[in-house]
Amino acid sequence: MKKTITTTGGKRADNPAFIMGERIYLREVRLSDVNENYYRWLNDPDVTRYLETRYIPRSLENIRQYVESMDVNPDEIFLAICLKENGMHVGNIKLGPINRIHRFADISLLIGEKSVWRQGIGTEAIRLLANFAFDVLNLNKLRSGCYEDNKGSMKAFLKAGFVQEGILRKQWQVNGIFQGEIVFGLCREEMMPREISK
Ligand SMILES: CC(C)(COP(=O)(O)OP(=O)(O)OC[C@H]1O[C@@H](n2cnc3c(N)ncnc32)[C@H](O)[C@@H]1OP(=O)(O)O)[C@@H](O)C(=O)NCCC(=O)NCCS
Repeated sequence: MKKTITTTGGKRADNPAFIMGERIYLREVRLSDVNENYYRWLNDPDVTRYLETRYIPRSLENIRQYVESMDVNPDEIFLAICLKENGMHVGNIKLGPINRIHRFADISLLIGEKSVWRQGIGTEAIRLLANFAFDVLNLNKLRSGCYEDNKGSMKAFLKAGFVQEGILRKQWQVNGIFQGEIVFGLCREEMMPREISK
């Protein structure tokens, strides 16, 4: 039986979800999300250890500008990851840039609330967005990448069905030491039998 993907098509006032999952839902990132929590995430070295953003001090104004720029960018779908149990905004996930000619896009995510790490939230968010990308947007391939030492990210993408396609050697510098970037890919036909059709 085909797995149901609930999207905005069915969005109602009492249902804020753009994509509904089992333990989380994804919705649009709002300007009201740019608060002390979001600010804390982007200035927390544990959260940004493997992100380029760690080189740029983020102000609330700066984060607000980023969220606004995402809102008007048709090639990026930027979503808040929220817990179903209480609506708590715990991180963000992005699909894009979307290449509409070759029908591929990148996926990247950040779970800023460290208290929910290692509970499967990252894996579920990736799966939900991947299903949406293939099933609704009709994309053909998704790509991602992470620092070699970012074990959490690596495991989350692999658990979500991505395949390691290679490694870009000595790509990123962490505390003066260069490390590789693991490159992941997920093709439409690899996702279909396992995740969309059940
Ligand atoms: C990387 C990140 C998205 C993982 O999210 P998460 O919700 O903790 O991931 P999951 O719980 O789905 O974890 C998937 C697997 O990785 C494991 N894992 C998670 N973090 C880990 C870590 N730091 N070290 C080792 N394993 C880890 C989990 O235990 C789980 O494995 P299991 O099913 O065998 O128990 C999250 O830690 C994060 O946003 N970090 C900061 C930003 C970042 O690095 N983003 C990714 C950029 S590419």
